[in-house]
Amino acid sequence: MNIQSLVEEFIKINDGDVEDIQVFFAPGRVNLIGEHTDYNGGFVLPCSLQVGTYLVVRPTIETMLKFKSMNFPMTAEVCQNQAAQPIGNEWINYPLGVVNEFHNRKLPVPGMELLYAGDIPNGAGLSSSASIEVVTAYAINSLMQLGLTNFEIIKISQLAENEFVGMQCGIMDQFAVTMGKKDHVVFLDCETLDYELVPLQLGDYKIVISNTNKKRALADSKYNERRSQCEKAVEILNEEMNINNLSDLGVDSFNKYKTKITDPVIRKRAKHVVNENQRVVDAVKALKKGELETFGRLMFESHESLKNDYEVSCEELDILVEEAKKVEGVLGSRMTGGGFGGCTVSLVHKHQIDEYKKNVGENYIHYTGLIPEFYIAEIGDGVKRIL
Ligand code: GLA
Repeated sequence: MNIQSLVEEFIKINDGDVEDIQVFFAPGRVNLIGEHTDYNGGFVLPCSLQVGTYLVVRPTIETMLKFKSMNFPMTAEVCQNQAAQPIGNEWINYPLGVVNEFHNRKLPVPGMELLYAGDIPNGAGLSSSASIEVVTAYAINSLMQLGLTNFEIIKISQLAENEFVGMQCGIMDQFAVTMGKKDHVVFLDCETLDYELVPLQLGDYKIVISNTNKKRALADSKYNERRSQCEKAVEILNEEMNINNLSDLGVDSFNKYKTKITDPVIRKRAKHVVNENQRVVDAVKALKKGELETFGRLMFESHESLKNDYEVSCEELDILVEEAKKVEGVLGSRMTGGGFGGCTVSLVHKHQIDEYKKNVGENYIHYTGLIPEFYIAEIGDGVKRIL
């Protein structure tokens, strides 16, 4: 991203002085393993990317908020004195949700001119929405010198999405986008928010993100449905025990009590969560010991579980994973993010990447008629001010 030309664009739109302009950045994220565990109080292992959302912002003396994006046509001028309402499925709901959350907490928000520009592919499940939320919350905190902690910024951003946008997401995305660190993965316990930054030492291997370029239809409603199925599982199990969420169960105790869940669908959902949690723990151990083959195997297992037990994959994601398996030098591959489209994440030997792109790409086009995109993931830092 060329920051200078972004600032020039801002001046073209808003006039005025350059001096008061500030620029912030929040990355996208890719999750290596631990899917649909966050809202079940479980473990996740995401990392922040070098692509993300840039925000050029200038506080004004009025209370108006002037939103514009380089990525979407919709612009808006919002008066802070009126109660904000979500506008269709527009991108503006993410920053507006954040502003709304500041208001709910009686935290002051200045009048602002805001210009967003992102280089995360949209709808790819790489957290472009969390990056917009976090960069907005971080910028307001910084402009008003409110002294909010990163944890508060994460929580405000997640609530903006839960309450304002209406997507009942967990905390993983906002956490990774805020706390990520260059060349590290974030090993997070979503129940306690204890976390560890683990160096991502992959030797000759690279993380390749493969985009299905499939539109994620109904993903939000199916996501919310999965969430309530997990709550149902907890409710049933709590007739026998006393757990807060599915992550309070280990694999052994789940196997002991699983027959209490008579609905096979609910049981499968719970099975995924419990096993996926264990896989994250095993994956971190493997990563620390440099056992990348084990790490890769766990990625494949995670995908199978998301496909068969949690049922959040789709044909396009399955094809990418199956084709990846056939390429030499691929240690693991799985869908990443919420599912129903979006991307896979794969661990590929650096000398096999061209082969991977060629074989997986050609076969994917053959089976789906869609054109995939491939990116080598560069792991960058979490949210920051850059100008
Ligand atoms: C989406 C949500 C996250 C998480 C993942 C699935 O990305 O925003 O909170 O639940 O799906 O792991």
